[in-house]
Amino acid sequence: MAREQFGICAEPNLHSYYLMFNVLDNKNKFIRKALAALPELFDDYADQFSESNLNAVIAIGASYWDEYYPQARPNGLKPFAHMQVEDRFAPATNYDLFIEIRSDRADVNHVVSTKVCDLLNDGVELVEQVKGFRYLDGRDLTGFVDGSENPKGMHKREVALVKEQDQSEFCKGSYLHIQRYRHNMSLWQTLEEKQQEDIIGRTKRDDIEYASEDKPHTAHIKRTNLKDKEGNSLEIVRQSMPYGHMKIQGLFFVAYCHTPVNFELQLKSMIEGDGHGNFDHLLKYTQAETGAAFFAPSLDLITKIAK
Ligand code: HEM
Repeated sequence: MAREQFGICAEPNLHSYYLMFNVLDNKNKFIRKALAALPELFDDYADQFSESNLNAVIAIGASYWDEYYPQARPNGLKPFAHMQVEDRFAPATNYDLFIEIRSDRADVNHVVSTKVCDLLNDGVELVEQVKGFRYLDGRDLTGFVDGSENPKGMHKREVALVKEQDQSEFCKGSYLHIQRYRHNMSLWQTLEEKQQEDIIGRTKRDDIEYASEDKPHTAHIKRTNLKDKEGNSLEIVRQSMPYGHMKIQGLFFVAYCHTPVNFELQLKSMIEGDGHGNFDHLLKYTQAETGAAFFAPSLDLITKIAK
């Protein structure tokens, strides 16, 4: 039975390190071997710093997949598509590899990330690196709790991981989307608390969901809480974290799912709206600056591919 990468469904941590790489020409074999060595490295550090709750995810970019594993491709894997309506847009900045390292210690993340970069160094260019952190009681920098409606327990695994019957070779893998959002904090701070709450669709202090009839069609959770024709919720597992410093602040959005479709429909609903002019008003206060699609294979497949 294949095992998933443990970072996909891990509980939230205090710190994260996101590394995005492009692979150099003629380095595919090197990369397959180097990636296959990483899970053991993560396990060793997780043992050494057991109180830090270290976990990690290795994911392969949609445009790089065929070079990594030409024999087969996850059915739904396709590059992140640029989306734009008026001044609302989601740029595509696809990368070959994404490595997410999370734990409750920033120093442990630093040690592990350094080791990862050393190991991959001969085969990659590091294109972007972002450090995330937990803010207060799990809030986004807008001040709202982020992650409340995430699937929980066993259901989280059902939402995040590809099932045997969907595509057996890729079972326990996960489709991953990332976007680095930059917030306009000074504009956001000009709003009254009630205006902010109407934009999210939940109360700020107590994180209580608005009653259906009070939820504006432009509220973030109205635009992202979608259902299929049978009335089943189209869910994703969000593992986003705030990032930034005094000049630039935002959310590093990370979502895992057994299908890429749920994220695509939610993002479309945020940007394009409901067909009656109701787009997600959160987008007036934050702007995606990157966007990329990946597949995070099971631990077993990462090992198999290197052989
Ligand atoms: C819910 C923040 C981007 C999908 C929420 C909530 C907050 C939030 C505060 C309510 C609490 C919760 O259930 O977690 C943000 C911020 C974003 C962002 C600050 C960007 C700057 C996105 C994107 C997607 C998304 C890009 C998907 C394309 C969702 C979903 C929910 C949610 C599915 C739960 C809706 C529900 O069932 O109630 N987000 N979000 N979010 N967000 Fe976002």
